[in-house]
Amino acid sequence: MCGIVGYIGSRNTVDVLLNGLTSLEYRGYDSSGVSVYDRDDGEIKIFKAEGKLNNLKEILKNDTTLKTPGIGIGHIRWATHGVPSVENAHPHTCNCGNLVIVHNGIIENYLELKSKLENLGCKFKSQTDTETIAHLIAQKYKEEQNLTNAVRNAVKELKGAYALCVMHRNEPNLIVAARKNAPLLIGVGNNENFIASDVPAIISYTKHACYLNDDEIATVWANKFEVCDLEGKIINKRVEILPWESQTINKMGYKHFMLKEIHEQPDVVRNVLSNKLIDANTKIKLDEVKLNSDTIKNLSRIEIIACGTSLHAAMVGKYIIESMTKIAVDVEASSEYIYREKTTNENTLVIGVSQSGETADTITAIRQAKQTGAHILIITNRPDSTMAREAHSLVPVNAGIEVSVAATKSYMAQVLSFYLFAIYLSEIKNTMNSEQLINLKFELLKLPNLVETILQHEDEIKKCASKYASTKDFIYISRGINLASAYEGALKLKEISYINATGYPAGELKHGPIAMLDETMPVMVIMMPGVVYEKILSNAQEAKARHAKLIALTSSNDPKLYDTFDDIIKIPQICEMLSPALTCVPLQLFAYYIAEFLGKDVDQPRNLAKSVTVE
Ligand code: G6P
Repeated sequence: MCGIVGYIGSRNTVDVLLNGLTSLEYRGYDSSGVSVYDRDDGEIKIFKAEGKLNNLKEILKNDTTLKTPGIGIGHIRWATHGVPSVENAHPHTCNCGNLVIVHNGIIENYLELKSKLENLGCKFKSQTDTETIAHLIAQKYKEEQNLTNAVRNAVKELKGAYALCVMHRNEPNLIVAARKNAPLLIGVGNNENFIASDVPAIISYTKHACYLNDDEIATVWANKFEVCDLEGKIINKRVEILPWESQTINKMGYKHFMLKEIHEQPDVVRNVLSNKLIDANTKIKLDEVKLNSDTIKNLSRIEIIACGTSLHAAMVGKYIIESMTKIAVDVEASSEYIYREKTTNENTLVIGVSQSGETADTITAIRQAKQTGAHILIITNRPDSTMAREAHSLVPVNAGIEVSVAATKSYMAQVLSFYLFAIYLSEIKNTMNSEQLINLKFELLKLPNLVETILQHEDEIKKCASKYASTKDFIYISRGINLASAYEGALKLKEISYINATGYPAGELKHGPIAMLDETMPVMVIMMPGVVYEKILSNAQEAKARHAKLIALTSSNDPKLYDTFDDIIKIPQICEMLSPALTCVPLQLFAYYIAEFLGKDVDQPRNLAKSVTVE
């Protein structure tokens, strides 16, 4: 989290920095700041504001001191060390204020460095780990008055993760950037250059970019840039053409990005399926999967690692892959995988699932898995991300840019990618007969229209949500393939409405959670017709007997449901295997409308960030 930008060139620097930060706001919104070198008076100026980026924009709009800045750096913060405040907002400086720095990441040994620096006379003004880097570089700068060397020598002493941009008053024609375990790229322009945590910050200015790797240091001037390693050896870097269209990100008339992204899902389904699933009789094509057929035939185990919403898509993926291929699949939160004994090896396929491809825990987990010899496949919305670049195989999910912090369309795209990948494996391993495969593909092709049908009934879901908006707690239950839908539905609700919502396996209700049930506790029951339908119905009745309010999310026409349930959200019929691709949509709308009724900041919920680049 945290987003950083840098610019050097002849455009209005403040505008470029603010535009860049606007497109990085998904990475955090606790505070923001920019620092520019004003060529007219030879001073570095710093502007900071607590809270959303608009607060900084207001300050800059009313500032009359800025004259002709042609170089600057900016930051948007998701607080790790130190509360959100102006003093903890970046950029940070050294004692004399000649050096300014913005940072994304966490410096793990900052307390140790801080005490050494304090002994050298450095005075700290904030509680951040970042300020340590500013003082450390300033100390190194005293030795040889060269910013690139000072940054290079300083980062050798840092433990943890960092993407940095540094400016110095004595070298006003360059910015130095460095990275380790946090994304950073240089946008290459015509007599102007950009630095950013992510592509959206630069794409409206240039389509040419150079991605920095770990332990690389870049010196960026307006007309060139140079990259070296930690020993100062120059590295020849490739400038890539970004496969992105310059696009203005807007809500297209929707009140929130989340609602727009929910409504984009029929097209997302079409995009995911296009080119890969041509028709029900043709084999699935996954060009970027580099597993050879012998490896697939001998594959006995798959491990899927992910975080947050992607972890829930992974849980659906486990069901799909196990049912279609009979390969054993384990799913684990990346943050847990990292700290346990590894049992993966060259016979294991490890799948990382990540919308952003930059989640720190998942990156670390896949790197560890790679060291065990496992083949790494990444299912991601960002084929240009760190994870994608480190993987052996890729399944790009093609959901398009997702702005809302709460993931919706990317979840749908990930779930669909699992169907495609499982069918792909099954076609090679011969684990399903051709009739089953044709039927499944045929049903998959129906999904876009079925998702559209759900969206046409949005008002009914909205009405149902209005009845439950004042509740303090919520339980979501299901079994089987839709258990992950229960987890994801509950996560959506708590993320954006702050209601305490928890997903449970319906059969586990009686082993503890049932103690919480009374007339104040609503239970969302996801019960699609299939092998566990009757079992879930019994579990719902157990909840009813404890006076809980019950909502059914189902495609069943069973009239008996009206005796048990207070509300019924009806969705179209689909085979049980594909049902998670439908159940997620009303659950997203239900959470959205509750948060909207409560007047919450739907797109930027408190304390969250879309891309979590710290462990
Ligand atoms: C953050 C976001 C979640 C997301 C999770 C994993 O917590 O707020 O919406 O699911 O990160 O992100 P990834 O990009 O790896 O899918």
